[in-house]
Amino acid sequence: MKILVTGNMGYIGSVLVPYLASRGGYELYGFDAGYFEECLTGPRPENFLVRQYRGDIQNFPDELLNGMDAVIHLAALSNDAMGVRFDQLTEAVNYQASVKLAQMARAHGVPKFIFASSCSLYGAGGDLAKTELDSLNPLTAYARSKSAVEAELKNLASPDFKIMALRFSTACGASPRLRLDLVLNDFVATALSEKIIRVMSDGSPIRPLIHVKDISRSLLWALNYQAQEDYLVINIGSDHWNYQIKDLAEICAKLIPKIKIEINPKAMPDKRSYRVNFAKFRELAPDYQPQMTLEKTVESLVWMCGKLDLSDRQSYIRLAMLESALAKKAPLGTLVVQSGNLMG
Ligand SMILES: NC(=O)c1ccc[n+]([C@@H]2O[C@H](COP(=O)([O-])OP(=O)(O)OC[C@H]3O[C@@H](n4cnc5c(N)ncnc54)[C@H](O)[C@@H]3O)[C@@H](O)[C@H]2O)c1
Repeated sequence: MKILVTGNMGYIGSVLVPYLASRGGYELYGFDAGYFEECLTGPRPENFLVRQYRGDIQNFPDELLNGMDAVIHLAALSNDAMGVRFDQLTEAVNYQASVKLAQMARAHGVPKFIFASSCSLYGAGGDLAKTELDSLNPLTAYARSKSAVEAELKNLASPDFKIMALRFSTACGASPRLRLDLVLNDFVATALSEKIIRVMSDGSPIRPLIHVKDISRSLLWALNYQAQEDYLVINIGSDHWNYQIKDLAEICAKLIPKIKIEINPKAMPDKRSYRVNFAKFRELAPDYQPQMTLEKTVESLVWMCGKLDLSDRQSYIRLAMLESALAKKAPLGTLVVQSGNLMG
């Protein structure tokens, strides 16, 4: 199976590529702007690719789609902070370029398109766990870009062009390209380096979490799932990983000795709070359910963070890296091709 993974050099893609390669039977191609290329904590995951293409998804060369059996589309400016600082770019990359990529994939006869959507499009979700049938309430440029893509994808899907939109929970856990701007990862890193966990809100918002390896398992499922429907949207995560932010802080404090938790009771309420229902994922993918425990996730983060110089955390913060990449005005329009195993 020949697969193009866009955004393969990100936090999720860097776990996904070695994971799929380890399963055998996948010929993997990557396409990425390389914004976070050097934010490595281990060997380069690109070594598992047949080929690495570098470029801007906004100028995607459609001939790269020839002969692909599936596209896994991860490339995006992928958090709320980047969406605030770069709102137009977020719309251009996350929305316009994603829809164009799907149109090109359809025109090139690619049978399957898997889109990395997000549970964040539930926004201010209230207390009831959200199913895929519930209305959306995206509160940020990032979340709006995801819901806008989903709305377009629905119309592009056909029996010859199956589309799956996977609404991932907030990711956590160790990755060869670690991110410390994700809630649990941030808590662990700050706990280790400063012996304190600072909760910016009053700690009450609810977020579903998922380990990045379990996201990869769900993508493996999506690649192989023979959907009846042309367009399938599905929440990815597990019911018992719907956590209040303050619970996450407390779990970290139990596992990492001598940690203080600082909660800000006077903080403006964070409206981004949603509990999510994962019954559809359980029903359709019983053999691909999340397997990690939160305790093991924290332990592996402690292990990985222990190898890093946490006094310089900027290379693990996406907004900082993106700002620096854009300041350098890297020639993203130019397509650079590298074969796998070139990078040692
Ligand atoms: N991490 C999460 O918690 C989470 C949750 C839900 C959904 N998602 C979605 O999953 C996908 C992957 O997330 P991630 O955490 O790996 O993000 P990431 O920011 O770590 O990686 C995104 C990758 O996309 C690339 N990229 C960005 N703009 C590009 C452009 N113009 N052209 C080419 N490549 C570009 C970046 O270089 C990077 O390697 C994203 O679409 C994200 O929105 C992530």
